[in-house]
Amino acid sequence: MIVRRLGPGDEPVVERLAEQGSSPRLPDLLAGERTIVLAAFERDEPIGFVLAYELLRRHGDASHLFVYEVGVAAGWRRRGVATALFGELERLARSRGIRRAFVLTNAANEPAMRLYDSLGGVRPNDDDVLWELEYRVD
Ligand SMILES: CC(C)(COP(=O)(O)OP(=O)(O)OC[C@H]1O[C@@H](n2cnc3c(N)ncnc32)[C@H](O)[C@@H]1OP(=O)(O)O)[C@@H](O)C(=O)NCCC(=O)NCCS
Repeated sequence: MIVRRLGPGDEPVVERLAEQGSSPRLPDLLAGERTIVLAAFERDEPIGFVLAYELLRRHGDASHLFVYEVGVAAGWRRRGVATALFGELERLARSRGIRRAFVLTNAANEPAMRLYDSLGGVRPNDDDVLWELEYRVD
């Protein structure tokens, strides 16, 4: 298995991997310096990906990573693919001086909960809650 960062020209990889993978916004996404898309490949087949954003901060560390999506193809799960993706994400983060990443999930998502635990993740607050605000766009 190899893991590499995707960039311009890799749109077909994302289209093969991700739910609702096809989007006219993909080129912008893949070109963004602070948008990190990593994919895992077995031979030439993409089998997993992670999408993270480098968020600039006002104080303390200059930036943190927000891991927005991670997914491994159903037939490839439980073989260390997500672990390899997060390993490469960490390497890349460290090379940029980024010391922390955070990710949101559902407590009911056992594979994800176990994955983040296995990576050494911690839950800083038991009562964290996610709120969404909807904006109407005319
Ligand atoms: C969550 C997900 C990305 C994990 O990917 P993966 O490649 O299977 O994970 P790994 O093989 O690297 O697993 C690493 C560790 O996580 C834990 N883990 C992963 N999947 C697990 C499962 N189904 N049940 C229990 N533990 C699990 C284990 O501790 C595992 O180590 P082990 O196999 O040596 O016991 C994958 O299940 C997935 O794509 N799910 C659907 C999308 C999703 O829910 N994404 C997360 C949204 S926040």
